[in-house]
Formats: sequence, structure tokens, C-alpha cells
Amino acid sequence: MKTIMLVFGTRPEAIKMAPLVKAFQEKKDDFKTIVCVTGQHREMLDQVLDLFGIKPDFDLNIMKQGQDLYDVTSRVLLGMRDVLKVCRPDYLFVHGDTTTSTAAALAAFYQQIPVCHVEAGLRTYDIYSPWPEEMNRLITGRIATYHFSPTLLSRVNLLKENVDGDRIVVTGNTVIDALHWVVGKIAVDAELGKRLAADLERDGYDVERLNGNRRLVLVTGHRRENFGGGFHNICRALKDLSQKYPEVDFVYPMHLNPNVRRPIHEVFGEDLTHLGNMFFIEPLEYLMFIFLMEKSFIVLTDSGGIQEEAPGLGKPVLVMRDTTERPEALDAGTVKLVGTDYNTIVGQVSHLLDDTEAYGEMSKAMNPYGDGKACGRIIDYISDKIATPQPE
Ligand code: UD1
Ligand code: UDP
Repeated sequence: MKTIMLVFGTRPEAIKMAPLVKAFQEKKDDFKTIVCVTGQHREMLDQVLDLFGIKPDFDLNIMKQGQDLYDVTSRVLLGMRDVLKVCRPDYLFVHGDTTTSTAAALAAFYQQIPVCHVEAGLRTYDIYSPWPEEMNRLITGRIATYHFSPTLLSRVNLLKENVDGDRIVVTGNTVIDALHWVVGKIAVDAELGKRLAADLERDGYDVERLNGNRRLVLVTGHRRENFGGGFHNICRALKDLSQKYPEVDFVYPMHLNPNVRRPIHEVFGEDLTHLGNMFFIEPLEYLMFIFLMEKSFIVLTDSGGIQEEAPGLGKPVLVMRDTTERPEALDAGTVKLVGTDYNTIVGQVSHLLDDTEAYGEMSKAMNPYGDGKACGRIIDYISDKIATPQPE
């Protein structure tokens, strides 16, 4: 019996690690599964834990309003020191590129506990974009013993950094496992759809509005490098687009970071209700968010995870960033980088709303990021390693 510890702390990590937690828990004869959350996010993390019914064994509860990178790094590092001393797992699983994952990987390294990196090998080759995520994943990649890459390209990125090919497995992204679970749940349960619609109406957006010819642009934003001028441009673009297209609804579930909310208030005022076809709402629980994404026409975002989910649902994604570590959907033509320039955002959203042919080309459903079986591949690989142990 091997002890596996999975560590995560933010909303996207939780969404992407939840199916893996479930899959390990099902193998209870082979693995003892321990979940440690750092609480880098609080409310947004708890939404995901509730949805997937995950009860953490450890909760470092580190979040502070307005925390900076030093706060998060030091609090995770110290918190993990103590948890790892108590538990000493055989393998520590971290995910992606957050400061939680890098600080937890470093804490494990300091106690010589092998690290398994899920969503390994994504690169932009610009350490300031996204910041600090590109450096976070480089560091975690150097520490990790095993690398679970979502795509062939991410495996190649690691090979170029001289990572041993036997320690890199292409699994697909576990977000597609989570997405399949959610989409399946909504598809088989008509009552659930009705409940989600009612909850969404309570949270500020009535999907019944879309029953006629109205279309929906779904918006999210939170990247650190967009704070300040970038977010100001995004908000001005949204204001003008919502006035230019009164027959289109713009729905923006706002990240809880005050740096995201400040420019929204600066551009739209203190009261964000009664803005006509522009809807600012609280962060949505994952089921509800996917329910809404399925109903959307275009997704406008700077998110990483949404770039992976939306193509699977056939939704064109305009990415408000200058770089992406997920070029697969870009190459396939379902994702486009638009940066945070006001004119580019207004121009590209208008183009997709006005030009049916351009829209058709971008809205082909395809899934370069996985087939929903990533977690099974990760567990198979680790089970093999246990059966035939190798020097770490
Ligand atoms: C973090 C990750 C980023 C990831 C993003 C996903 C780092 C450095 N950044 O960025 O890689 O893409 O999460 O959303 O690891 N807050 C709350 N409640 C919550 C969540 C956030 O109030 O549930 C507020 C707090 O004021 C907090 C602030 O948001 O201080 C920023 O949170 P933080 O985790 O530091 O940064 P994110 O921008 O969310
Ligand atoms: N998401 C959610 N509710 C929301 C907005 C996003 O559940 O209101 C989900 C989304 O489907 C995706 C993840 O959160 O799986 C993305 O999180 P975020 O954009 O905060 O982080 P990133 O992926 O950029 O690291």
C-alpha cells in the first residue's frame, strides 16, 4: 500500500485534481489517498470541494485578502513542512503552475519526497507571461520525478529540457475528465438543468433570455499581468460592445480578487445591477459555469482552463493575453489571442458577432486536450512504477 498525497489550493487546480482524487480513492486496496488543500483560494476552492464531495485531510487555510506572492509562497512552504513531517507520503501530486503547486513541490523536495507533476510541460518561454506561472511550472518541472503531460507538445517541451522520456507520460488533461463528468451529469438530468437555471437566475442571470435570438458572450478575467491598464481596457471594451450590440448579453462572473473588481467599478460605477445587457455576477459554481458556457456564443477570457474546456464544447475563445502555453487549439483555429488592447477586443468580438462564416470556422467542436481518461492513465503509470520500483 502506497500513500499518495494530492495538494492543491486554487479553483482551477481543484477542478483538475478532483477527478484524480476520486480515481485514487476508488483504488483503496492499492493506495491510501490524502488530500491537503492550502486554501490559497477560500470561497472559490470550497465551491469545488463541495461539488465533488471532497473532504480534505489537511487544510492550511492560508488565504489573506490582498495576499502577495511572498505571502502565498512562505505560508504554503511552512504549512507543507509540518504536514509532510506528519504524513511522509510516498508520492506528492501537485498540479500546473500556481504558487501553491510550486511551494508544495519545494516543500516535498526538502524532505526528499518524490513529486508527480500533473499538467506538466506547458510553456510560453516568456517568464513574465503568464506571471508568475511560467516560472512556477519551470521550477516544479525541475523538482518533479514524474511528469504527466496533457499533450504530445507538452511532452516535447520537457524532452527539450532533457527530462528523461521514460518519466513523461502523455495523459490528456484531467480538466476534460472533470468536464465530461459535469456535461454527462447535466445531459442525463433534465431536473438538474432546471435547477441550475433557477440558481443562475437567483445569482443574477436568467438564461430564459436566450430563448429567442439573443446570443451570449461569456467573459472571465483574472491574470496578474492584466492588472491595471489591461483590465481597464477590457472593461471599456465590454462597455462599448454591450452598447453596440443591445441584442447580445454579456455575462461576467467576476473573480474575487479586488484587482479584478476595481477596474470594473471604475468603468461601470459602484452599482453593477441594472446595466441592461451587461451582467456582472459572483463566481459561479463549476456545474453552473459549464451549463452557462454550453449556452454561450463566444467566450472572452484570459483563463487557462477555459481555453481547454471551451473548444470541447465548440465555443470560439478569444483569449485576452499576448501569449498562450496552450497553442494546440490556437493551431486548430478555435482559439485566438486578442491581448488587452481596446480596439482589438472590440474588433474581434464584433467580427465574430457579425460574420457568420468567420464564426463557423472558429466554432468547430474539437478536443486537443484530452479524451476524459487522463486520471486512469496517471494511476496506471504510478501503479506500474510501484510494481517495478526504479531509483528516484
Ligand atoms: C491564482 C493563481 C493563478 C491561477 C488563479 C486561478 C498564483 C500566483 N496565481 O491567482 O495561477 O490562474 O489563481 O483563479 O498562484 N480571493 C478571495 N477568495 C477566493 C479567491 C481569491 O477573496 O476564493 C481574492 C483574495 O483577495 C486573494 C486574491 O483574490 O488575496 C488573489 O488570490 P491569489 O490566489 O493570490 O491570486 P489569483 O489571481 O487568484
Ligand atoms: N470557472 C468556474 N466558475 C467561474 C469561472 C470559471 O467554475 O465563475 C472554472 C472554469 O470552468 C475553469 C476554471 O474555473 O475550469 C478556470 O479557473 P480560472 O480561470 O480562475 O484559472 P486558470 O484556469 O486561468 O488558472
